[in-house]
Amino acid sequence: MLSETLEKERKIHAFKTSSIHKESYGQYFTPYPIAKFMSSLFPATDKKIKLLDPGAGIGTLSCSFMERIVQEHWNTPNIHISAYDIDKTVYKILNDNIAKSSSAFKQSDYEIFSEDFLEKTSLEYTKRINETYTHVIMNPPYKKIQTNSKERQSARAFGLETVNLYSAFMGAAISLTEDNGYIVAIVPRSFCNGVYYKPFREFILKNCAIKHIHLFESRDKAFKDEAVLQENIIIMLQKNAEQGNVKISYCNDDSFVGLAEFDVPFNQILHDNDNEKYFNIPTKRQVGDENLTFYSTLKDLGVKVSTGPIVDFRMKELLLKDYSNNSVPLIYSVHLKNHHLSWPQSSKKPNAILISEEIKKQLFPKGFYVLVKRFSTKEEKKRVVASLITPEDFINDELAFENHLNVFHIDKQSLPENIAYGLIVWLNSTYIDEKFRLFSGHTQVNATDLRNLPYPGLGDLESLGKKIIKKKIWNQQVFDDLVRGITK
Ligand SMILES: C[S@@+](CC[C@H](N)C(=O)[O-])C[C@H]1O[C@@H](n2cnc3c(N)ncnc32)[C@H](O)[C@@H]1O
Repeated sequence: MLSETLEKERKIHAFKTSSIHKESYGQYFTPYPIAKFMSSLFPATDKKIKLLDPGAGIGTLSCSFMERIVQEHWNTPNIHISAYDIDKTVYKILNDNIAKSSSAFKQSDYEIFSEDFLEKTSLEYTKRINETYTHVIMNPPYKKIQTNSKERQSARAFGLETVNLYSAFMGAAISLTEDNGYIVAIVPRSFCNGVYYKPFREFILKNCAIKHIHLFESRDKAFKDEAVLQENIIIMLQKNAEQGNVKISYCNDDSFVGLAEFDVPFNQILHDNDNEKYFNIPTKRQVGDENLTFYSTLKDLGVKVSTGPIVDFRMKELLLKDYSNNSVPLIYSVHLKNHHLSWPQSSKKPNAILISEEIKKQLFPKGFYVLVKRFSTKEEKKRVVASLITPEDFINDELAFENHLNVFHIDKQSLPENIAYGLIVWLNSTYIDEKFRLFSGHTQVNATDLRNLPYPGLGDLESLGKKIIKKKIWNQQVFDDLVRGITK
């Protein structure tokens, strides 16, 4: 049986191939059940199929798609497959598998390219001699690509500026797809937010309709035989097609047990007026979503958020273990406990920094600020954790904030007291944590992410602030009860 053969070959490869080889090729093969699910997303057709499988590995994706066509007796008159894999050691298995699967068709032909997919196709695309496809199925390699690398140049030939091999592969695949053709890809979720992937999101939006997004609820379940901790999604795009509702599906792992799905209007994926073009992926209907359109942006509130300006390794000679004359307290994540400042600490981190002309420009004057850690650990329940700084926390007139923190301020000056307290409630709520998880699969929280969250209006924020000031105990229940009061 195809599934057994492919799974056996995949497991042999996973266990016998060195991690150096796998890493250098970005080589993690798709488990058969995931390949089968991906193949199931294409709508049936009776037209000729031209299938592209870029970075094909042992051919699991193409073979499972061909298997589906045969099992469901599609009236496809002809199938053509182009499979690329740069790793010559997989050529034989890939060739054998594709040959076997395609032999089930009356008319079929295939080409296996033991070549660099990006290099070959970008060259052909530039010369307008490229092949085009009606279907693409892909699990591309993942690797950061440097600004001057040949991969970046290849992606540019397709009109895409991008930072990772997987987005470059997708950009190329989209470009090679015919109008109304389909692209089904399993890729890391990281392109859904963040500044670096904005050109890629814009590329998708310009060229495709998003038809379906599938989410795995636990981050390490898609490739469980491999140490792949990326959160992966499966996305189906349709080239130059009209954007309608988007199907969302999710399940826990590759058994697809308990698969749930629902349709959402496109503006739940891409919020109106979102300049950053974040892709949000709802996992369930969220309480209070209907109020979302009335919510403010941080800009509307006149509040700014920036990363802490002190990059400690660039100014090692100024760092002090203990505070002394001519220094200011330097605040790190270790100084934030239970949403308050707890300074000084005896830890590996410094507690202060000597004042220099350069440092002076980067200090924040006495006042109210809200700090959000940029890096939470995987063990931490919440991604967004906010802490308050008040004027009582200042032992002199200024404080320095280290680069692993995000700082909420107004033009480098204090926030109004009630707004600062209000932000503490809002940012620490479960509601906001869920909102954050809609667009981010990683534990990192960047200033752009915080700008992209919804905020209540000034009045609501102030009233949250006034209420929390009166509370003696701060905990999740208190934050959530207060927020529930305004999201209903
Ligand atoms: C994540 S694996 C997925 C393999 C297969 N699609 C699957 O789903 O099992 C990515 C594959 O892309 C191949 N690859 C990496 N860089 C490539 C390139 N520049 N051109 C073609 N293939 C490449 C690797 O050798 C690897 O087999």
